[in-house]
Amino acid sequence: MSLFDVYPLFDVTPVKADGVFLYDDTGTQYLDLYGGHAVISIGHSHPVYVNALTDQLHKIGFYSNAVQNPIQKRLADRLEQLSGCAGYNLFMCSSGAEANENALKLASFHTDKATVIAFDNSFHGRTSACVAATDNKKIIAPLNAQQQVRFFPLGNLELVEETLKSEPVCAIIIECIQGVGGLDESTTEFYQGLELLCNKYNTILIADEVQSGFGRTGDFFAFQKHGITPHIISMAKGMGNGFPVGGILIHPSIKAAYGLLGTTFGGNHLASTATLAVLDVLESEKLMQNAKEMSAYFIKKAKTISQLKQLKGRGLMLGLEFNFPVAELRKKLLFDHFLFTGSSKNPNLIRILPPLTIQTEHIDTFFNALSKEL
Ligand SMILES: Cc1ncc(COP(=O)(O)O)c(C=O)c1O
Repeated sequence: MSLFDVYPLFDVTPVKADGVFLYDDTGTQYLDLYGGHAVISIGHSHPVYVNALTDQLHKIGFYSNAVQNPIQKRLADRLEQLSGCAGYNLFMCSSGAEANENALKLASFHTDKATVIAFDNSFHGRTSACVAATDNKKIIAPLNAQQQVRFFPLGNLELVEETLKSEPVCAIIIECIQGVGGLDESTTEFYQGLELLCNKYNTILIADEVQSGFGRTGDFFAFQKHGITPHIISMAKGMGNGFPVGGILIHPSIKAAYGLLGTTFGGNHLASTATLAVLDVLESEKLMQNAKEMSAYFIKKAKTISQLKQLKGRGLMLGLEFNFPVAELRKKLLFDHFLFTGSSKNPNLIRILPPLTIQTEHIDTFFNALSKEL
């Protein structure tokens, strides 16, 4: 049987990984500045993570959400403590799209409305409602196009308010720093303005932290820099360090009812254990602090690159924008210098999403290679 051919693949076959490095089937070592798309937060095969998952697998790997699962409860308490999101409730699922799908559905249930506001260049996943809220016509099937979604330029509060006045909007969904779209971020005034408008018009503010959450920006969530209180926060990627975990944090003003949301796999024993291990390592190794320090070091080095048009992003969610398409440069970095980097919707931008454990010598390796190729 062939694989359904939807991914353009690099001809590299990683068979082992450790910390910030990947190793292919010929033994070649690669520096991972992509983190498998912002997924690897505490580093590949971290011993705390491997031991926790192995121990748990020997006890019980899975049972459904119809029974007590104290690991999920323990995770909710740790998440509250480390994220600073006091009073929120946790609902777990298994991916970023599923997190946003549940967030949008809950917003619609809660407000009894159906229109969604999203922003130009957004990416929220590929399932029904969230792909409709994604600014990429190529991945929206006719089935998804039935959803009512309005797109506005990031930063334009006037257009948002006009729509809130005239249409039944259940949710505004926003990435505080856009990931796939190319690392754009608006102003604190804009994010606070959205919060005010949501409260005025009984609309749910959803912060999509699937990529930017779990310490990636140096804060636990990217929205925290702007001092806002979203009604729902969606999470995935760095949450499980590779284990398929997602979830939403739900403000206490939104009430639960049996059957409102549900999932077979979400929050199972292994998924909750993986996330607890990630939180333990984030805290014990002070990885949010490291993200801030390494980000400052990276930015300082980037400023010495004369060909750089703009540096975007925050923490270890960074973008290097040039005046030319970077596809060839990224290939050279991968095949001649053994460095994984990321792409985005912006063809001129290299994305940097390394494990939060990265050190200065790894950043030096990247800039030495980049300087040679430029
Ligand atoms: C901001 C954001 N939201 C949602 C998603 C979808 O996550 P998943 O691929 O786990 O469904 C992504 C994936 O790249 C993302 O970057």
